[in-house]
Amino acid sequence: MTTAVEHRDHLFTLDPRRTYPVLASANGVWVTDVAGNRYLDAIAGIAVVNAGYGRDEVVDAMAAQARRLPFAVSNIFATEPAERLAARIAAMAPGDLGWVHFTSGGSEAVEVALKLARQVHVEHGEPDRSVFISRWTSYHGATLGTLSVGGARMRRRKYEPLLLDVPHISPPYCYRCTAGGDHGGCGERYAAELERAILDAGPGRVAAFIAEPVIASVGGAISPPDDYWPLIREICDRYGVLLIVDEVVTGFGRTGTPFAIDRWGVVPDLLAMGKGISGGYAPLGAVAVRDPLREAFRRSGSSFEHIFTFGGNPVSMAAGLAVLDIVDREGLIGRAATMEPAFRAALDPLWAYPWVGDIRIRGLMAGIELVRDRETKEPFESTDGVAVKLREAGLRNGIVVYPGTGMADGARGDIISLYPPLTITDEELGELSRRLVATFAAVGPTLPAR
Ligand SMILES: Cc1ncc(COP(=O)(O)O)c(C=O)c1O
Repeated sequence: MTTAVEHRDHLFTLDPRRTYPVLASANGVWVTDVAGNRYLDAIAGIAVVNAGYGRDEVVDAMAAQARRLPFAVSNIFATEPAERLAARIAAMAPGDLGWVHFTSGGSEAVEVALKLARQVHVEHGEPDRSVFISRWTSYHGATLGTLSVGGARMRRRKYEPLLLDVPHISPPYCYRCTAGGDHGGCGERYAAELERAILDAGPGRVAAFIAEPVIASVGGAISPPDDYWPLIREICDRYGVLLIVDEVVTGFGRTGTPFAIDRWGVVPDLLAMGKGISGGYAPLGAVAVRDPLREAFRRSGSSFEHIFTFGGNPVSMAAGLAVLDIVDREGLIGRAATMEPAFRAALDPLWAYPWVGDIRIRGLMAGIELVRDRETKEPFESTDGVAVKLREAGLRNGIVVYPGTGMADGARGDIISLYPPLTITDEELGELSRRLVATFAAVGPTLPAR
């Protein structure tokens, strides 16, 4: 008989020094480990389980699809659930983002967006356009392509020699504004960096600009000034540069609108998504593409030179359709907006800790930035491991939070991100608040003095 210890001897977990709690089951906003410990999952997996755990109708839809047709290869066949889910996403997506290509997750979706953008220029007779511009303090995935456009310095560090040469510009990060706290004209100033980067690279060489509409895990819910995105759209149009928006975290209601970019009325050329589409019940990602880009392929008669074996897997399609049924029926997108004040109130008690520098909230997504000195915003040292301490103390207090670092200078600067399921109730928000306060109270005395 195989014992639990033998299992653990073979699983290649990320951190070999850490003992990982072994999760066994989940329901609603709660997850339970094999030792019977219950945790309030304040990050919904990792911004994934938006409709909550334990949704039998999703599981039933997946089982029925697996019985009927578990797999079809996408360079030979289409399937009905893929056609239906594509139509459903096209109807939710802004403007004429009417064409949807499926992948198995967010990194794959971003890879596809990059490759599609490049190939569209080739089809248009502009093969010199091969440069991507992106931003610091952002995350687009773990593959070498997506890491190249990513802007989390610590995550890139060990792989630098393998990465593509990608110019990075500043994110519009008001808390640590490089203009010294004067917020007038900020959107314009940050957007102007894109124009400068395009001119530096040579306008005829730039394929696309990629960014998250509201920066998620590596920024902790960083929203730009309201004039930023319309200006970015204008600059891209001026230079024939495609705009890729990464909504892998923010898509499907997280910020209170179907997609976060909706708030600014901007239509990107390509929109990458993942996580919340299938609510964690099956691996799924997608890219939505505007009509003119689809037309470029039709006119040239070219195929998209790409395939992922599991892209568009029928069981994942069934999960996506069933999750989106719940999202619609239970009004979860509107709920993320209407619950925002209660979410804010649940986090307000954290201001009692002088090492909380900023609490940023958009819908049911929050970032809590932790500083050594609230006044000067001086960060803790990375060796203090403050965000990781909070994650571990959270687990001891029955709550799951997500740590991040590098906010101040790439290495220093801690944040905690929260993405509760969009189904969270007022009562559960009260519990989230109590458990967070207990977690912060436990970590406070272990921090270096100011
Ligand atoms: C904004 C963003 N883009 C892309 C990804 C990559 O998605 P995945 O981990 O599903 O490959 C993530 C993952 O956290 C993300 O936060």
